[in-house]
Amino acid sequence: MVIEKLRAGTRQTHEDLEKEMLPFIKGATNADEYARLLHLFYGYYHPLEQGISRYLDESILPDIADRRKAGWILNDLRAMNRSDEILEDSNAPLIQSRADALGAMYVMEGSSLGGKVISKMIADNLNYPDHSALSFFYGYGGQTGVRWKEFLAVLDRFSGTVEEDLIVKKANEVFLKFQQWLQRNMS
Ligand code: HEM
Repeated sequence: MVIEKLRAGTRQTHEDLEKEMLPFIKGATNADEYARLLHLFYGYYHPLEQGISRYLDESILPDIADRRKAGWILNDLRAMNRSDEILEDSNAPLIQSRADALGAMYVMEGSSLGGKVISKMIADNLNYPDHSALSFFYGYGGQTGVRWKEFLAVLDRFSGTVEEDLIVKKANEVFLKFQQWLQRNMS
């Protein structure tokens, strides 16, 4: 099954990305640092989502419009008056096929699994009175598990096809290049 190949094939790059990401999350103890974290996600997710939209639509993933995350990030930044001049990663992975799009979606959808914990950490750290600037990390909230399962069911349709290995390859590249993007933006 493609999901098992994905888990096994990206275990290391996922772990590496987590390690790189943790200081950014822990460091988001004030509005400036939190906005910086959101900038980093937007700068990586936006070019990926633009590429994905050329190869995936509702015929494959019926609720794809509700899964786009760059807009949520922008809303959060606007709520904090920090949506100016967001740098995008010019080295973000290229999406040039449906398999590329599915591999990238896997990484971004999976990132919402940790979002509930992260949004709580940030809300506690920043003492935000409401969730207006937390929509990205809050993600699907109580629906997270259901939405993940629905996405996996779509992915599973590609198990055993020629696209399977390409999906895993692109997912790995997306993890790796996200880590590199964070490294380049350290300091
Ligand atoms: C400090 C940051 C992170 C932590 C602590 C973390 C932790 C976790 C944990 C505990 C899971 C398993 C959740 C479950 O099975 O319910 C998970 C899954 C996942 N995370 Fe992360 N993660 C982090 C960052 C990220 C980021 C930044 C991405 C991608 C941009 C990502 C992509 C994924 C994916 C794709 C899965 C699904 C793995 C599967 O197929 O089961 N994670 N993460």
